[in-house]
Amino acid sequence: MSQSVISILNKIKIDKSWSFSDKTRKETSYITHGYHRYPAKFIPQIVSRLAEKYTKKGDFIVDPFGGCGTTIIESKIMGRYSIAVDINPVAVLITKAKITPINPIKIEKEFEILKKKLEKYNKDIKVKVPTHERIDYWFKAEEKRRLAFIFSKIIKVKDQDVQDFFFCGFSNILKNCSIWLQKSNKPTRDFGKEPSEPIKTFLRQTKMMLRGNAELFELLSKKGYLKISSKVVCTDARTIPVKNGSVDLIVTSPPYVTSYEYADLHQLTALWLEHTKDLSDFRKRFIGTSYHSKKDLVLNSKLAEKIRSDLLIKHKKTAEEVSTYFSEMNQVFVEMKRVLKKGGKTCIVVGNTSLIGVDILNAEVFVEQLQNLGLKVVDIIKREIPSKNLPSVRDEKTGKFARITDKNKVFAYPTEYILVMEK
Ligand SMILES: C[S@@+](CC[C@H](N)C(=O)[O-])C[C@H]1O[C@@H](n2cnc3c(N)ncnc32)[C@H](O)[C@@H]1O
Repeated sequence: MSQSVISILNKIKIDKSWSFSDKTRKETSYITHGYHRYPAKFIPQIVSRLAEKYTKKGDFIVDPFGGCGTTIIESKIMGRYSIAVDINPVAVLITKAKITPINPIKIEKEFEILKKKLEKYNKDIKVKVPTHERIDYWFKAEEKRRLAFIFSKIIKVKDQDVQDFFFCGFSNILKNCSIWLQKSNKPTRDFGKEPSEPIKTFLRQTKMMLRGNAELFELLSKKGYLKISSKVVCTDARTIPVKNGSVDLIVTSPPYVTSYEYADLHQLTALWLEHTKDLSDFRKRFIGTSYHSKKDLVLNSKLAEKIRSDLLIKHKKTAEEVSTYFSEMNQVFVEMKRVLKKGGKTCIVVGNTSLIGVDILNAEVFVEQLQNLGLKVVDIIKREIPSKNLPSVRDEKTGKFARITDKNKVFAYPTEYILVMEK
């Protein structure tokens, strides 16, 4: 079984029309897509093309690893109902802000009020600054004080949608205003960094978001889709809050095993907005993290078992992490099957990688697991990932992520698959 899945995927040729390499940043970050950076986010055009092909107006779309909300934003502007799930409260905050069109007149007014308050900042003004040691780890005193001032004004905004909108902007400026090593996906401090000035940066960020919101509001009003329901829920992908057999299409891209530590990457927002006081507990909730492993795993794939034994010879801990990942992904697939309608499709965007010299064939394993659960292959698309979207590269020998500029490295995800399967 697994051998045939490997050869099927090996034979698939790259379909250039799915790389969207001609799309400019402006096109991939139109409406609200550009509000907030997020690792491994979708190009919106992938979602809209899949939704166009496999659904019609009024259908129901779900993304169990919703991230910053790309799937449900595209669903909404196409008149499809949708729900996104993500375990990361920061992802949920961003998504909530991005899918909620606010009347531009109202938000402009709120912005002017906030701006006037922020412009009153001076060094004698009384500000209650947070005392968390992790905040002190990342922020210098003056930036911390200014951020605390912005925070104290946003928290007073009464309208929840407006408050979320401002907090989303606040969240996106935190890295720039801290000593977090710029462009690094690993939490590293840069003591030589000159952090951005928080108030100016926040106002600039919010102005960009005001334009995105106005664009979204206008588009949805024109199409008559302002009331199309799209929801985001902070929960585990194994507990999608929808009825059995109710979903027409799932579009998702799962986390990769030990690739991004989302909990680490979003710790600044999680700390400021008090999503967590304890980072180690926060980390354990994520699939693909290196912070937990379990026993009695059901891999539901011969290939996954082979990968586990190949890894075991080299490094027991990595073997455990990868097995835990495949087993947890199988649990997500069981849940996805539960919510899909008969004939409903699931589109999983996934790349393969390599760890300590062993190929981690995520796509092949997923196809095998889904087939073993009774789903059928409808289509498998192989797409190139334009380099501007590459998350990072891996060192060939160690399997660790390295800087993209380093020579002698191999690209971790030069291509990826879109697995289209049917219940
Ligand atoms: C590759 S990202 C998805 C990005 C998304 N396609 C977008 O456009 O933003 C994977 C997501 O899975 C989420 N995740 C990890 N473990 C999860 C779990 N147990 N349940 C739900 N979501 C989880 C992460 O927080 C992350 O947002």
